[in-house]
Amino acid sequence: MLIKSEKININNSFFGSLPGEFYLADTLEIMPELIEKHAGKVKLVYFDPPFMTGREFDANMPVGEKGFAGNRQYFAKIPSYSDQWESREAYLEFLGKVLEGTKELLTDDGVVCVHVDRHASAYVRILLDKVFGENCFINEIIWHYHSGGSSKHSFPAKHDNIYIYGKKSNVKINPAAAGKARTDKKQNHMKKNVDVDGRVYFSIKSNGKEYKYYEDDIVSFDDVWDIPHLQQKHPERTGFGTQKPLELLDRIIKSCSREGDIVCDLFAGSGTTLISAFNNNRRFIGVDKAALSLLTFRRRLTAKSTFDVEIFHTSKPNDMAGISIQKAESENHVTISFEAYRALDVESTLPKYSDGLQYLNYVSVGRIEGETFITEAYSVRTPGKPALKCDFTVEKGGKKAVYFCDCLGNHRFVEI
Ligand SMILES: C[S@@+](CC[C@H](N)C(=O)[O-])C[C@H]1O[C@@H](n2cnc3c(N)ncnc32)[C@H](O)[C@@H]1O
Repeated sequence: MLIKSEKININNSFFGSLPGEFYLADTLEIMPELIEKHAGKVKLVYFDPPFMTGREFDANMPVGEKGFAGNRQYFAKIPSYSDQWESREAYLEFLGKVLEGTKELLTDDGVVCVHVDRHASAYVRILLDKVFGENCFINEIIWHYHSGGSSKHSFPAKHDNIYIYGKKSNVKINPAAAGKARTDKKQNHMKKNVDVDGRVYFSIKSNGKEYKYYEDDIVSFDDVWDIPHLQQKHPERTGFGTQKPLELLDRIIKSCSREGDIVCDLFAGSGTTLISAFNNNRRFIGVDKAALSLLTFRRRLTAKSTFDVEIFHTSKPNDMAGISIQKAESENHVTISFEAYRALDVESTLPKYSDGLQYLNYVSVGRIEGETFITEAYSVRTPGKPALKCDFTVEKGGKKAVYFCDCLGNHRFVEI
């Protein structure tokens, strides 16, 4: 059975049609398909690719109901992705191809934001100059954060670099759209006043002229952004090692796109860009080759009340050991129950549960139309709802199938 895509459609009121796509795929391999579908339509491409650190990255993920309920003995290290490259040239060649594809995806007033750190920043800036042109450079944002770890023999590295380029040299972004209200913090040498409408302002006289700065005026940020890293217990944290804060993506998305625009992340990871796009009423396209990325994004997105997304399954599902399913039919309905689950690589490496279903993180029931799985009911573990529902009653009709994904990212469709 070949399933190429999976549709989850939950009555999104903002668009009324599918606003989101996620490709479980290698970015370069899927690029021709993305270009065929979306060339010239994407307003903003942001990505935070591997940084050429030479490291292997793990995620620290909750496993089963106890893990999602917050018991840290039920967390496990799960491999998420590799950042090992043959050489710097190989890395830059790869990124150069991604940037060439990005340029084709962008609208004429489109913007690309490439997020890297000291390992590759100098080279990536030059690469961007080559692919987009020096005159298309808009900003280098320094994201400054505090996190653990210090260094005795050099200054601790506590910033990342985000390069912003326009597709064309006349492209403008709108920093004020991501600005914040001036605070009531005392302004140096200024007098605090209240005007006739009750608005608070600070004033200063210079050369006989009075300058007024209202407390509720929106002020833009400069190019150094102090945004805290997600600490261990931060509620946004998913366990995906390189997850970025929503506040960072909100700032990028608000300043570089407008409501209804398409925002794309070609290395989606835990899905921060896509969630921020969704929260800010943008459409989104995400790509990541790691099954754990899709699983994490799915968990974050399905915690929302309304959304529509199409997930493209271009990589081959892993082979897993037994899933046992029961099916009972009444006149108009069919009840499908997940009875047992046993995966090949789960039990030796993860916290012990006697019930194999505990290792499943997402299950759904639906029907197959052509090469698409239409989701009719689903359940996902989230920290707010750690238990997984395993019985579903849906209307009869169509070729029924189930989809499931375990905590390692093993996943598969099975026709029933
Ligand atoms: C630094 S993480 C992105 C983190 C993300 N910004 C977030 O907030 O969670 C980089 C991601 O790139 C993905 N990746 C690496 N090489 C890839 C490739 N060739 N194609 C698709 N995804 C890739 C990894 O699986 C990983 O999830």
